[in-house]
Amino acid sequence: MSIIEEAVRKTAEKHNRLAASDPSLSRSRIRRMPTPAPVDTSQARHFQSVSLDSNVLEENRVLPRITDQAALRAYKILRTRVLRRLDANQWRSFAVTGVTAGEGKTLTALNLALALAQDVNTWVFLVDLDLQRPRIAQYLGMSGLNGEKGLSDYLLGDATIDSITYSPNIERFSVIPNFQPLTQSSELLSSPRMLDLLRSLENEAPRRIVVFDMPPVLASDDVLAFAPQLDGLLLVVGEGATSRDSLRRAKEVLAEMNLLGVVLNRSAERDDNAYYSYAQSPRT
Ligand SMILES: Nc1ncnc2c1ncn2[C@@H]1O[C@H](COP(=O)(O)OP(=O)(O)OP(=O)(O)O)[C@@H](O)[C@H]1O
Ligand SMILES: [Mg+2]
Repeated sequence: MSIIEEAVRKTAEKHNRLAASDPSLSRSRIRRMPTPAPVDTSQARHFQSVSLDSNVLEENRVLPRITDQAALRAYKILRTRVLRRLDANQWRSFAVTGVTAGEGKTLTALNLALALAQDVNTWVFLVDLDLQRPRIAQYLGMSGLNGEKGLSDYLLGDATIDSITYSPNIERFSVIPNFQPLTQSSELLSSPRMLDLLRSLENEAPRRIVVFDMPPVLASDDVLAFAPQLDGLLLVVGEGATSRDSLRRAKEVLAEMNLLGVVLNRSAERDDNAYYSYAQSPRT
């Protein structure tokens, strides 16, 4: 059994123990969800408008400018499985992280957030929480904004929440980008201003999911510091890019956290059905 499989198995065991003590948490293999009423997005607040550069989106392989049918299908499958998991656990926020640099965390967070927003019942906030290497604005082609304000400005007390939240012309999707890298990242992630931001996001939308793009677990203590604020973690593993040794060390760090699933990015087994593979616990 691989290290990742073992980590996922442990999360499943933890859930099963909880389910045994609370029958309301127990669920069958495919749990029938109550059908939610469509979200009235006219009631949801529109933040400052921003236009995205469609050429940049296409170059960066970002939805909705992906034309590769296999990739589109894979993101939809990932979206549906993540939604099912979130609903089953009544989770509303998760961070996309990984083991080491460059495994595809940001691209996965971005496309998953956009795919989630394509679901008519899901309102999504995407937050660039890789404070040391922010990339969301760049991947979306937002970098040419005048007087751009982002998460760092807010955390340092130089901007309000409204001035750092943007609504591009994509339904149900809002984004908090970051333009200025910061070094004291883990301290800022647990600061009162950060907690205020989280409470504010929670109050904004009727059925909102908050997706955080985060650095890798082994690069800093950011994920550890922020974990208490998160419902779950989605781990992105780059096939051929993540060593066994790094996985072993990451497993120790992740032991106390709720693992939502593992995404195998850049899988060599890419075919009509798989672009991303999504590993889940064997019981869901
Ligand atoms: N499945 C994929 N197919 C093709 N290119 C990909 C894929 N996933 C990621 N990339 C590319 O790999 C590069 C790194 O991706 P990304 O920025 O998402 O990684 P990251 O894990 O967030 O990196 P960092 O650790 O620096 O934050 C980008 O150029 C991205 O476009
Ligand atoms: Mg990244």
